Amino acid sequence: MCGIVGYVGKENAASILIEGLSKLEYRGYDSAGIAVLDNSRDKKEIEIIKAKGRLQALREMTDNGKAVKGYCGIGHTRWATHGEPSVINAHPHVSKDKKIAVVHNGIIENYKEIKEYLQKKGYEFVSQTDTEVIAHLLDYYYKGNCLEAITKVLGRVRGSYALGILFQENPGVMYAVRKDSPLIVGKSPQGNLIASDVPAILKYTKTVCYIDDREIAEIKADGIRFYDIDQEELQKEFKTVEWDAKAAEKEGFEHFMLKEIYEQPKAVADTISPRIKNGKIVIDELEMTDEDIKKVSRIQMVACGSAYHVCVCAKYVLEKLAKIPVDVDLASEFRYRNPLMAKDTLVIVVSQSGETADSLAALRESKKKGYKVLGIVNVVGSSIAREADSVFYTWAGPEISVATTKAYSTQLAAVYLIGLLFGKVRGTIKDKEYREYIHELGRLPEKIQKILDEKERIQWLANKYSHTKDVFFIGRGLDYAISLEGSLKLKEISYIHSEAYAAGELKHGTISLIEEGVLVVGAATQPDLFEKEVSNLVEVRSRGACVLGLTSYGNYSIEDIADFTVYVPKTQDVFTTSLAVVPLQLLAYYISVAKGLDVDKPRNLAKSVTVE
Ligand code: F6R
Repeated sequence: MCGIVGYVGKENAASILIEGLSKLEYRGYDSAGIAVLDNSRDKKEIEIIKAKGRLQALREMTDNGKAVKGYCGIGHTRWATHGEPSVINAHPHVSKDKKIAVVHNGIIENYKEIKEYLQKKGYEFVSQTDTEVIAHLLDYYYKGNCLEAITKVLGRVRGSYALGILFQENPGVMYAVRKDSPLIVGKSPQGNLIASDVPAILKYTKTVCYIDDREIAEIKADGIRFYDIDQEELQKEFKTVEWDAKAAEKEGFEHFMLKEIYEQPKAVADTISPRIKNGKIVIDELEMTDEDIKKVSRIQMVACGSAYHVCVCAKYVLEKLAKIPVDVDLASEFRYRNPLMAKDTLVIVVSQSGETADSLAALRESKKKGYKVLGIVNVVGSSIAREADSVFYTWAGPEISVATTKAYSTQLAAVYLIGLLFGKVRGTIKDKEYREYIHELGRLPEKIQKILDEKERIQWLANKYSHTKDVFFIGRGLDYAISLEGSLKLKEISYIHSEAYAAGELKHGTISLIEEGVLVVGAATQPDLFEKEVSNLVEVRSRGACVLGLTSYGNYSIEDIADFTVYVPKTQDVFTTSLAVVPLQLLAYYISVAKGLDVDKPRNLAKSVTVE
């Protein structure tokens, strides 16, 4: 959730830290801070600068970093877990006399017990954070050997952490360590870096190494060494990240979210095209033989947030295409309910970041129980990607906006490909249908583009409804799944209360909330459910609701009941979600813009939820 960046090299560290943090602000933005120390300084003291609020405040205090001199430093952008957003609680945290500075992402679960222990030893705490215990504990164990102090701390703390550490007595060296929270090391001729996420350092390097749990990186300007918890040196491999540095820039768009909405045709094409070879679906990375695919008795989908909504779609899609029963769970529920799963269940974990704590825990729980796990992941080298038995990479590129759009769309594309492959192998899709599906799959990008080209209608609608207080999204089947996503998009960035309901369920309670002027978005793209959905729209309309219809071209009868209708191109029924989601993303986006809100960084939210 919080963002970490660190640098040691030939350039001014603070400027690189601020630049890196600006790329990580989506990870947290209630305060930010940096610590700088190296041999070039007259006074060998760690300099700490922290500011409450957005990174802009820190930028102003440091003249974009230029005012802080030095070649080695660590920085942090915070999403508060323990202790309110304030300068005191902002990172870096320091030990007595600023001998050690620490930035931390994650949660130290036993921090209270460690704090009490250290207080008895005379340590004084100034913040309410769990992180401060790390700084003092490092000080407690430090007897002249940094590595030894770090390994002792690792033996003592429980929870999840990615840490960047500076020792006053060892200037020009930064340490990095992690457990269950992402952290990468990057190297470049200008210097070496650490970051909690690739976009922070893309401008400087594409050569990165993923630190594994409880490994320690010792980083100097001229070299990087890795150690295990026994202080034995490790040989680690560096990889090249494919992402383009431009992908982490707005490139003329007002917001990352709009840019990412517009990148969807390409992202979906990049995810689909390499997997269609000679008219067949080929998923090379799937570590499953045809026999393995035939043996699958059930599929268990697990994820959080929008990725969970992809799982809800997947239930309809995979059951239809591959005729395999699909169960869907929220990762935060799945991990603690000791799920009973049939023999030969395939677990599919969906995650953009590949670091979501609950999804990762669900994966581990499944593997512990002996199930095979397939990850649908966007971030290459992320924890879920590395721990899953096979990984299907979505090629969405970096997603910066907190509200997901292109990653969601590519996850859906992944589900279609898996459904078609499984259906073909299991003989549940006939050859002719298979060819038609593949043909239509290839046309999705141009159809998404067509919706984007007609965005003005949605923009107009968004302005009209930007002051609305309650919005209901209703649909049946896949239209219910799309309603869940439309509702989440709207509430997270516009702060308008909104709910998604299976249209048939409305009468069982929720319809009492429908009154004059309430906006109901009725998704009706599924031909076999169209009439039923329209009947539900009639019910809300007759109770005063304003109805926005969302359907495919040709279903013009919806206009008899809807106040306003948005049409998407026709496609195979199972693929309509990929099209219907686009107007809903645009609606949420333009409402947020009309309300003057911070679209890319909605309040209280952070991208990549690495704490549970
Ligand atoms: C909503 C959104 C979140 C994420 C969720 C899972 O727009 O982005 O709901 O979908 O936090 O994140 P990942 O996919 O990284 O596991």
